[in-house]
Amino acid sequence: MARDILVTSALPYANGATHLGHMLEHIQTDIWVRFQKLRGHNCIAVCGDDAHGTPIMLKARDQGITPEELIAGVSAERQRDFADFLIAYDNYYTTHSDENRELSSTIYERLAAEGHIARRTISQAYDPEAGMFLPDRFIRGDCPNCGSPDQYGDACEVCGATYQPTELGNPVSVLSGATPIERDSEHYFFKLADFEAFLRDWMRGDRLQESMSRKLDEWFATGLRDWDISRDAPYFGFKIPGTEDKYFYVWLDAPIGYMAAFQNLVNKRNDPELTFDRFWGRDSKAELYHFIGKDIVYFHALFWPAMLEGAGYRTPDAIHAHGFVTVNGEKMSKSRGTFIKARTWLDHINPEFLRYYFAAKLTHRVEDLDLNFEDFLARINSDLVGKYVNIASRCANFISKRFDGRLAAELDRPELVERFAAQAETIADHFEARRYSQGIRAIMALADEANAYVAERAPWQIAKEDGRDAELQQICTTALNLFRQLTIYLKPVLPATAERAEAFLQVEPMTWADLATPLLDHEIAKFKPLLRRVEQPAIDKMIEASKEDLEAAAAPTKAEPEQPKDKKKKEAKAEPTPADGGGIIDIEDFAKVDLRVARVESADHVDGADKLLCLQLDVGELGKRQVFAGIKSAYDPSALEGRLVALVANLAPRKMRFGVSEGMVLAAGDSPHVLSPDEGAKPGDKIK
Ligand code: MSP
Ligand code: ZN
Repeated sequence: MARDILVTSALPYANGATHLGHMLEHIQTDIWVRFQKLRGHNCIAVCGDDAHGTPIMLKARDQGITPEELIAGVSAERQRDFADFLIAYDNYYTTHSDENRELSSTIYERLAAEGHIARRTISQAYDPEAGMFLPDRFIRGDCPNCGSPDQYGDACEVCGATYQPTELGNPVSVLSGATPIERDSEHYFFKLADFEAFLRDWMRGDRLQESMSRKLDEWFATGLRDWDISRDAPYFGFKIPGTEDKYFYVWLDAPIGYMAAFQNLVNKRNDPELTFDRFWGRDSKAELYHFIGKDIVYFHALFWPAMLEGAGYRTPDAIHAHGFVTVNGEKMSKSRGTFIKARTWLDHINPEFLRYYFAAKLTHRVEDLDLNFEDFLARINSDLVGKYVNIASRCANFISKRFDGRLAAELDRPELVERFAAQAETIADHFEARRYSQGIRAIMALADEANAYVAERAPWQIAKEDGRDAELQQICTTALNLFRQLTIYLKPVLPATAERAEAFLQVEPMTWADLATPLLDHEIAKFKPLLRRVEQPAIDKMIEASKEDLEAAAAPTKAEPEQPKDKKKKEAKAEPTPADGGGIIDIEDFAKVDLRVARVESADHVDGADKLLCLQLDVGELGKRQVFAGIKSAYDPSALEGRLVALVANLAPRKMRFGVSEGMVLAAGDSPHVLSPDEGAKPGDKIK
């Protein structure tokens, strides 16, 4: 029976380029959707850009364009990225649409009518110069815990403490540099706790991965708090019905964007069978799945089902969360060139290779996925080129040269082809349950068998012997049928390669059902190489280009909705720089800084600190110093011991939660890279 299935991926913020983190999600979704379609189900996938919120409003303002212009540009670029990565949504839309405005109002009004909306006046940080309330991330100041300067309003990047923006010392607005003041404003809240019983019931029954269920249990245990769904003007978003200057918080209308994208598809298709209610109505029989990253589970597993339930719609069958992409074992980093944009990848490496690599490593669990380039290179070349394509390239030419391109009417090993077909349910189960890595392993085990078969029958030997033509044709026909079955299994992952294979085999687009019927007595085309190996220089160039990108455009990092994406620029604005004529210092000013060579005697992790290492330094005539340095992300302590470093020796000592820090070790970039004098310098030497 064909199932009705609706699938979504999280809607990317419309203020930055697509990067490899996004690609993990869209590739995971796309493989699943293509698999369902290949199996003959009525599977529809929608996505779109998340267009609202303060960062988008401010970014447009910075660029001197309207938010509408900004989001249109980003959306066009994103759709090109997705098309080139063979990501095929049935509709890619935007949350800034009439459909979404209407649906958001309807849902809000129904929730309000049922008493699930509360109103309260709250006091918040306000920038008197910019004339607007400040999201937490737009306020910076001294950490109330460790005293580090220039920390965000909600969390300290040095010691990891979280707090309220009002607790910051010397707070400043990132927008204007003004000191924020407290100001009252009425806010609208969604009473999430009204839905606790519903949510506890909803989450049972395979809707959430195990680690997510545990998260929800924790959230239930700490109590479900009211959710602030309004923002004051100026804001880029939808006005709340019945108000003049209140807007829906971006996260209120963002998931409703899934419905809006579907509604827009319904409008465009104009097919009487495809109705909104068939998929979203309270009694819908259709299945609904959301693919998301682990950072936005709260929104999708609590707020979203509660809103749908409260407003009289169906709720999701399951939320499928994935972990984050790391590159070579570390967080994607702009300075290391591992913060790679989709477009940069496309400029250097075949997009299907990323699809294959992610598939080969994705599990159904919420785990981070490491893109290790050494492993990537080996895996692509060995699995795809060495195993899969190799089967066809070793046999195809005999068919074209010796048999006019015609496959035999009989197989040399029918039972082998049958055994390949018999794997269909096992492999389908893996794809269905999002155990792609296990699916790929099963497929590659078959590829190994196919190669072993070809090696054993050695068609190149038989070709030399007289009177064995029929046998040769049947062997090659068997091998090409195995290749054809592997192509079907890999088709959700490698759609473009599958298309080329179909052209070579001269067949219509293949489906899962074709696994069972071998291709016999059929003319095929001349074989052309289907895939080229990936080589190290392409990877090196891509990483180099990602470093350059950094200067060209401020690529977005994974950020909270309210985080200014171009924080660097904002900071630069706040402090005068030589480039704009300010910030020049005299040599005397520089001489005030006592820079010294120091040797790291020991380096250790600090209990409870995410970013810090504790260094014991020998500074020659100045004696020993203890310094806490925020370099944990880039250095293993043992790698630092014995090294020479540059120390700011006359920085006022700072008391931290973990002890006193007596100076600062110099490092470059945000990765960061510790600076070292050439060997021969001695601890205590002055740096001038
Ligand atoms: N706009 C919200 C989602 C609204 S859905 C109604 C958002 N946007 S985002 O652009 O920040 O992220 C979009 C998706 O990409 C999220 O699911 C997020 O988890 C995922 N990823 C962003 N960076 C990622 C990695 N580095 N690795 C894997 N996925 C990550 O959140
Ligand atoms: Zn701190």
